[in-house]
Amino acid sequence: MNRLYCHTGGRTLAYLDSAPGDLTKRVCMLLHAFPLGAGMWAPQLREAPSGWRLIACDLRGFGGSTETGRDEAPVMADYADDCIDLLRELGVARAVVGGLSMGGYAAFEVIRRAPGLIEAVVLADTRAGADTPQGRESRRQMIALVDRDGPAAVADDMLPRLIGPTSHASRPDVGATVRRLILQQTSAAVRGAILRMMTRADSTPLLRPLAVPALVIVGEEDELTPVEESRRIAGELAGSRLVVLPRAGHLSNLEVPELFTRALAEFLKGL
Ligand code: MLT
Repeated sequence: MNRLYCHTGGRTLAYLDSAPGDLTKRVCMLLHAFPLGAGMWAPQLREAPSGWRLIACDLRGFGGSTETGRDEAPVMADYADDCIDLLRELGVARAVVGGLSMGGYAAFEVIRRAPGLIEAVVLADTRAGADTPQGRESRRQMIALVDRDGPAAVADDMLPRLIGPTSHASRPDVGATVRRLILQQTSAAVRGAILRMMTRADSTPLLRPLAVPALVIVGEEDELTPVEESRRIAGELAGSRLVVLPRAGHLSNLEVPELFTRALAEFLKGL
């Protein structure tokens, strides 16, 4: 699937689109994890459910999207503004907004900034809370790592935890795909994402008042955002559905793509 580009507000937003230009379909926008790009959603875009158009946006700096200038402090709202602007440019007034891990953090920010846009949410392998002081210290170490050794070193550091033990033991292609997606990114994108994640707000207060359908989905072997995080999110969201995917870790949509895509399709069809 080819990347498409939207030039707006002096920047370029890159995205993948399962049905470019089709305004008859309902839209589900999918936001990617750290430090990958929109390409991680390829398995889902290939199997878009009938009547639905799936759009996966490269968050600022990733893939083909422009990063903020070095004199501007990167904030999670940058990602949300880009997603909101992209949907507006594409003529989409309402959409299901979903994200996996960091993509979930960005989705929370879209909820905060454009609640009227949200038809439903998909929160995959993510957490609602902000970083702890200890978490921020690890982020600082990762900034030093990427500044010194680039995205390949971040891939080496994170890969053991990005996918679950089952994928490590029996799905070598998944690890190779994840590494390839990380190596496509620049140090600037990775650095910008770390700064945005470590300064993001606590989104827990957004959950209870959120009166739209929600799918919460998590790999049972997720070490980075364990199942309890998703249970907590689902417990706060009235009318949410929690799906725990067996034999999948943090990047559940890549590790068990058929199960993830089926859960997503069932949710979308029910809206
Ligand atoms: C991700 O997968 O997006 C990251 O693990 C999120 C994080 O580091 O908080």
